[in-house]
Amino acid sequence: MEKIRPVVAKEQMLCVESQAPACGLVVFGASGDLTKRKLIPALGNLFKRGLLGNGFFCLGCGRKDLGDEGFRKIAAEAIKDNPMKQKDDFLNSFYYASGDYSDEKFYANLKKRLSELDSKAGRNFGRIFYLSLPPAIYPDVITNLGQAELNKNGDDFIRLVVEKPFGKDLASATELNDCLSKWYGEEQIYRIDHYLGKETVQNILMFRFANSIFEPIWNRNYIDNVQITIAESIGIESRGGYYDKSGALRDMFVNHMLSMVSLVAMEPPASFGAEHIRNEKVQLLQSIRPFSLEPWNEDIVMGQYAEGSIDGKKAIAYRQEADVEKDSKTETYIAARLFVDNWRWQGVPFYLRTGKRLAKRVTEIAVTFKQVPHVMFRTAGIDELPANILVMKIQPKEGISLFFEAKRPGPKLCIGTLEMDFNYAEIFGTDTPDAYERLLLDCMIGDQTLFTRIDDVKLAWGLIDKILKNRQTQGAEPFLYPAGSESFPQADALIQKDGRNWRKISEL
Ligand code: BG6
Repeated sequence: MEKIRPVVAKEQMLCVESQAPACGLVVFGASGDLTKRKLIPALGNLFKRGLLGNGFFCLGCGRKDLGDEGFRKIAAEAIKDNPMKQKDDFLNSFYYASGDYSDEKFYANLKKRLSELDSKAGRNFGRIFYLSLPPAIYPDVITNLGQAELNKNGDDFIRLVVEKPFGKDLASATELNDCLSKWYGEEQIYRIDHYLGKETVQNILMFRFANSIFEPIWNRNYIDNVQITIAESIGIESRGGYYDKSGALRDMFVNHMLSMVSLVAMEPPASFGAEHIRNEKVQLLQSIRPFSLEPWNEDIVMGQYAEGSIDGKKAIAYRQEADVEKDSKTETYIAARLFVDNWRWQGVPFYLRTGKRLAKRVTEIAVTFKQVPHVMFRTAGIDELPANILVMKIQPKEGISLFFEAKRPGPKLCIGTLEMDFNYAEIFGTDTPDAYERLLLDCMIGDQTLFTRIDDVKLAWGLIDKILKNRQTQGAEPFLYPAGSESFPQADALIQKDGRNWRKISEL
């Protein structure tokens, strides 16, 4: 028998999904990895589900001279494992424009291609420009698009999607935004944090606010601490050039990690509307206490992977990776303790950690409740009972678990911890939509809920900026940990000084 079953049939669930209006997606950086691995497969699935508007097209842009046919080949390869009907119709909606992003002729040509596509269809389309480019060229492309008046589209919408990283600190994020806002209103700008597109991350909102039993205990009176883990077993792969200038703080912490903190800790929004949710996220970020950096490792510990092994295979050290400085001080791991200074969370530590080349790939939020106030089983020799833990499993085994104590049958007194486990795949099957499917569709529909607003971005960088600056003055170097590790002593010390322990990554 199933451990957990949906109470209503799939058809009777309260589901809302909208088809996108007719629009064209213009992807800058179309021959890049993101387009092949994420964007095209996501578009393929949206097409299969009948969610792309009639007449949808994707115009790829890049320096390479691929031609429409070349780009269609890339698209065909990207969806080769997708058993969809009318594949040819889908592939025929792909077009390509090559050129030099710094040359105004490229934008004139782009304008021409777009109006040809409009005339071919006998109508105008909403347009989305998707920047999947090295961040250094964002300002040039944004300005050139604006100067070519490609930021205007008559009565139809025009939107701009910006991939992370959005700047490298508060000053550069502000500068990038100043450039963007010269040409686009905030309601046209879609800043991607792909974690927000993950089903399980969105489920944090449903879990908290579609149930009445959790919210009353979701506070300092009942919760002892919250642990958020984003562990990866992969290294930096072929992204050494980018990663060595970025590090875990900028790559994961300032965006994905803080987004999860906001969703798990924010106040209930008035509605599921974009602005209500985004306002609460921002209020939460405003309440985060600045990290204590005196002494340096009081609230923050950084690490970098050294040689080691993962799944029995040898793994090289970070400093041996291609395009990484041989004496690099870039962190591939960060652990932090943060506090939220408001009535709900005063005094509750949030322990956060993310790192590459750890023992296992796992992302989860573990909410540990306070231990029972009085152990009534002391006379029978039981002095302490483990705390209840509620775990939101973000990936790879998506689900929710509750650990609680129960009597085991048999002896008069026999207590043990049980895990009540809800697993997405068991209940809903394995084809959970990828985050990019949700995000692309929302952008086409014009729903900004899952995109990061500029005040959110600035607050997040504001928190991190102090770490970035202090690191320079303190000459702080990351601690080395062997690839494949669970943790390392300095990261353990961060939490152990509060009398707590990290959850064991290999057992999650
Ligand atoms: C990206 C980071 O934003 O997220 C990568 O740049 C990281 O370094 C990736 O590997 C992790 O995403 P996911 O969806 O695999 O958890």
